[in-house]
Amino acid sequence: MPAANEQLGMTDPRVREANATIPVYGQLPFIPERASGCDMFTKDGRRILDLYGGHAVAALGYGHPSLVRAIQEQSHKLLFQSNSVALEVRAQAAENLVRVAPKGIDRVFFVNSGAEANENALRMACVTTRRKKILAITHGFHGRTAAAAAVTWNSEKWYGFPTKPFDVDFIPRDDTDAARAMINRDIAAVIVEPVQGIAGAYDLSEAFLKTLREETRAHGALMIADEVQSGMGRCGQYFGVQVHGIDPDIITSAKSLGAGVPCGAVLCTHDIASHFQPGDLGTTFGGGPLAAAAITATINAIDSEGLLSNVRKREAQIREQCVKGPVRNIQGMGLLLGLVCDRPAKEVRNTLLEHDILVGTSSDPAVVRILAPLVLESTHVDHLAHALEAIAPLID
Ligand SMILES: Cc1ncc(COP(=O)(O)O)c(C=O)c1O
Repeated sequence: MPAANEQLGMTDPRVREANATIPVYGQLPFIPERASGCDMFTKDGRRILDLYGGHAVAALGYGHPSLVRAIQEQSHKLLFQSNSVALEVRAQAAENLVRVAPKGIDRVFFVNSGAEANENALRMACVTTRRKKILAITHGFHGRTAAAAAVTWNSEKWYGFPTKPFDVDFIPRDDTDAARAMINRDIAAVIVEPVQGIAGAYDLSEAFLKTLREETRAHGALMIADEVQSGMGRCGQYFGVQVHGIDPDIITSAKSLGAGVPCGAVLCTHDIASHFQPGDLGTTFGGGPLAAAAITATINAIDSEGLLSNVRKREAQIREQCVKGPVRNIQGMGLLLGLVCDRPAKEVRNTLLEHDILVGTSSDPAVVRILAPLVLESTHVDHLAHALEAIAPLID
C-alpha cells in the first residue's frame, strides 16, 4: 500500500516545495538527482548539460575532486568557528583572494552572499567618504537586501521597504557624458557590474568603465565593482575589471567564489579598511572554515588547471560556432555570455532543454544567458552548436 502522501502525488518535490515554501521562484521542469562535471542526471534517466551552473555558482562544475576533498577534510577538522578566533584556513583564503585581486586591493571582509557583500560595500563607501548619495547603472542588478536593492535598476516592483537607505541615481549605461555630468563631490560611490549579468551579459564598454574610474577618482568618490556574477575567473581573468586594466576601490564577490559552498567577500584597499574598527562590520558565518576551504580550493583549481585560459578558449569557440539558428549575435565576456536571439529567449531556452541543454534567460527578453562552469569542454560547445543549428532561424 503506498503511503498517504504518495497517493496524493506528494512524493514529487515540486508539489512538496510548493506546499512547504513560499513559492517565489519559477522552476524548471526537471529534478536533478546528482551531477558530475558539467552534467546533471535526473531520476527519470536524463543527462542534462548545465550551461547555467545554478546562476553562475558551479565554477568547477559538479563533484570536482579537489573541491570535494577540501570540504570533506575541513568538515572533519573543524566545520565552524566564528571570527572571534583566527583560523589558518581563513587566513589562507584571504591571502589567496588578495593575491588574485587587482592592484591596490589588499583587504578582505568575508560575508555570505552577493547581496550581503554589496550591502557592506555600500556601507563602507558611505562611511569612508561621509557622503550620502550612490550612483548605479541602468539595468544593473545588485541583490535583494535593502541597500543592494536600492541600487538595483527597476527594483520598485519588489523592493518592499518604505524608504531607501541613501539617495540613489542611475547613470544610463555606456553614456560617458552622463557619467561625467553626474559624478561630483556629493557622490559616495558608483557601483557597477563590468558585465551586467541579469541584464543579459551586457558588457559595458571599456570607455564607459574607464570614465567611471577617472571621474570617481577625480571627485573623491569610490568605484565599487560588483563582480558577484562576473568574477572568479568567469570573464577570463579573475575579475572582469582586470580585462580592462581597471583598479576599483572595492570589489564584491560571491556565487563562484566557493564554487557551490555559499560565501561572499568584500575586497578593498588598505585605505578604505583603515576606516573600520572592531565592531563596525560583522556577520556570524562570514569567513567560516568550510567556506574558506572552498575559496582556496576554487582558486587553486583555477590556477592549477589553467581555467582562465580555458574560459577564453571556450568563449572564442562559442563566438565562432554558436551564431546560428535563433542566435543573431553574442555579447558578454568569457563564460558570461548573452546569446541575442531572433525570438523570445524563453522559447529558445525551452527548446534547448528538449535537447538536454540547460541555459538561462535574463531581464532582456531576447537574450539567452550562458553561465557555464569554467571547466567547460570543447565537446560541450559542439553539442550546443548542433542543438542551435537544429532550431530553424526565423525568415525576415
Ligand atoms: C551582479 C550581482 N550582484 C549581486 C547579486 C546578489 O547575489 P546573491 O543572490 O548571492 O545575494 C547577484 C545575483 O544574481 C548578481 O548577479
